[in-house]
Amino acid sequence: MPKRLALLLYIALVWCCFNNTPTYCLANETDRLALISFKGSIDQDPFGALNSWNDSLHYCDWEGIACSRRHRDRVTELNLRSQGLVGSLSPHIGNLSFLRIIVLQNNSFHGPVPQEIGRLFRLRALELSNNSFGQIPKNLSSCSNLEYLNLIDNHLTGNIPGELGSLAKLEALGLGINNLSGTIPLSLMNLSSLSKVSLLECNLHGEIPAEINRLQTLRFVQLGNNNLSGKIPSGLFNISTISYLDVDSNKLHGSISFDTGSSTFALTNLQRIYLYSNQFAGMIPTSLLNATGLEEIDLSKNSFTGPMPKDLGKISCLQSINVGKIKCILAILQPVSQPFDQIMLGPSHLDPFRPSEDRTIPLSVIAERTKLTVEDVEYLLMKSLSVHLIEGIIDQVEGTVHVSWVQPRVLGISQIKSLRDRLDNWVDKVHTALLSVEAETPDLVAA
Ligand SMILES: *[C@@H]1O[C@H](CO)[C@@H](O)[C@H](O)[C@H]1NC(C)=O
Ligand SMILES: *[C@@H]1O[C@H](CO)[C@@H](O)[C@H](O)[C@H]1NC(C)=O
Ligand SMILES: *[C@@H]1O[C@H](CO)[C@@H](O)[C@H](O)[C@H]1NC(C)=O
Ligand SMILES: *[C@@H]1O[C@H](CO)[C@@H](O)[C@H](O)[C@H]1NC(C)=O
Ligand SMILES: *[C@@H]1O[C@H](CO)[C@@H](O)[C@H](O)[C@H]1NC(C)=O
Ligand SMILES: *[C@@H]1O[C@H](CO)[C@@H](O)[C@H](O)[C@H]1NC(C)=O
Ligand SMILES: *[C@@H]1O[C@H](CO)[C@@H](O)[C@H](O)[C@H]1NC(C)=O
Ligand SMILES: *[C@@H]1O[C@H](CO)[C@@H](O)[C@H](O)[C@H]1NC(C)=O
Ligand SMILES: *[C@@H]1O[C@H](CO)[C@@H](O)[C@H](O)[C@H]1NC(C)=O
Ligand SMILES: *[C@@H]1O[C@H](CO)[C@@H](O)[C@H](O)[C@H]1NC(C)=O
Ligand SMILES: *[C@@H]1O[C@H](CO)[C@@H](O)[C@H](O)[C@H]1NC(C)=O
Repeated sequence: MPKRLALLLYIALVWCCFNNTPTYCLANETDRLALISFKGSIDQDPFGALNSWNDSLHYCDWEGIACSRRHRDRVTELNLRSQGLVGSLSPHIGNLSFLRIIVLQNNSFHGPVPQEIGRLFRLRALELSNNSFGQIPKNLSSCSNLEYLNLIDNHLTGNIPGELGSLAKLEALGLGINNLSGTIPLSLMNLSSLSKVSLLECNLHGEIPAEINRLQTLRFVQLGNNNLSGKIPSGLFNISTISYLDVDSNKLHGSISFDTGSSTFALTNLQRIYLYSNQFAGMIPTSLLNATGLEEIDLSKNSFTGPMPKDLGKISCLQSINVGKIKCILAILQPVSQPFDQIMLGPSHLDPFRPSEDRTIPLSVIAERTKLTVEDVEYLLMKSLSVHLIEGIIDQVEGTVHVSWVQPRVLGISQIKSLRDRLDNWVDKVHTALLSVEAETPDLVAA
């Protein structure tokens, strides 16, 4: 009986479709067939993400599929993030003409992103990061409503297609960590809505186009680990929206001047700036101090000459409170020329900001900067002395620490963590020792 019912329904459906009265049609065959061929191009589906993609369910109820409310049988969203899918992306995806969002992030799709994607003119977000796609289709430029394009961490080769410059609504462009080549296309400087761009580790050479100053809504700029040369165009320092600027590990040179011709420092929203491992020279501009929200800055492995702006450490330490007090204290203990978070204390031969003199610092100053009590500061200093992070003497009477040496190493967060563990072990041991000494010689401890 149910079989007959199904058959009747099927006949009704076919009849209705052929009779061209779409109001009564439950399904658009175009979308269903396109999804079936999408599934057909998947070789492995280890978590059974596509098990629900069968005839007992309407395709709008298949896992990862969402349909339009107005055009009920039209697929608007395909979201199969982190499903371990292995396969290629079927060119028939281009038939899902109502698609607005495609998310296939963190799977193992290989082969090209098919040119047919260019037929999806309603597409707003294409999230394909962390796959093995091999080519950026030029045809993508036809997706004129695209706002978000992420192809980070794929196996893309070839140049960045200049055609991408016509995606006028693009706000986020991620092409980082790919085996690309060539230069940054000038056409990308036409992307006037761009807010985030990652071209990290893309094997790019050539200069950062001066026309970048046209991108006046940039917030996140990641150009690190390439072979970029020339100077940073001064127009880049005129884009007040920038909060993250990374050009590390390139071949950039010249002095860094935040003087953009206007009277005020423009980068007022700057939070993180990474210039390390380039060939920058000259002084660190004091105007950087006007970026009051600065959290992290790394200028190491360059040819900058001192002195470092005096109050910079103060800024970075106030911000780095969540990263770890020890790191912050270490930063403060560095001579003024070396006060940074993300401690870019750098191997000393590469570092222009070599410790130059012994310093005596009031514990109260450290306490103020780290928002710790003087007792806590003293305690952390003792720990740091014990594991040889610093050399010096704590003068409890004067309430100062005299520092003669500070561990000149780059400390990553994981290193800081392991240091902290070591320190905690040490403290436990000391505590135990103290207790036993206390039991034996109470007078001594009391003194
Ligand atoms: C299904 O979608 C295609 C492509 O947009 C369209 O040409 C066709 O008329 C639709 N069919 C029905 C029955 O709605
Ligand atoms: C997608 O559309 C093309 C062109 O209209 C057509 O030839 C092809 O058969 C369609 N694919 C599917 C799976 O229906
Ligand atoms: C079809 O999908 C439904 C929903 O996930 C599932 O319960 C059913 O077992 C599937 N049928 C087949 C034949 O795989
Ligand atoms: C990526 O997908 C795998 C499943 O294939 C999952 O275990 C992992 O957590 C995902 N990674 C992220 C960062 O989402
Ligand atoms: C990328 O994919 C690999 C393999 O599925 C997974 O182990 C890793 O967690 C993924 N990373 C991200 C950032 O999604
Ligand atoms: C490329 O995009 C155009 C415009 O949307 C479309 O007409 C053409 O069919 C696409 N090319 C392929 C190979 O699908
Ligand atoms: C990157 O591309 C170059 C050619 O452009 C090729 O020689 C090299 O093997 C590729 N590397 C990887 C990791 O795919
Ligand atoms: C940028 O856009 C303008 C106006 O739309 C156009 O004339 C110019 O050719 C574009 N530049 C590039 C490099 O694509
Ligand atoms: C930079 O270019 C040199 C050759 O000019 C090459 O040996 C090197 O691998 C390139 N580095 C990167 C990160 O692309
Ligand atoms: C920076 O902007 C100001 C005004 O907004 C302008 O006068 C100046 O020429 C610009 N400088 C650069 C290098 O673009
Ligand atoms: C930085 O701010 C101070 C006021 O806080 C101002 O006097 C100075 O001109 C600013 N410097 C730059 C380069 O904008």
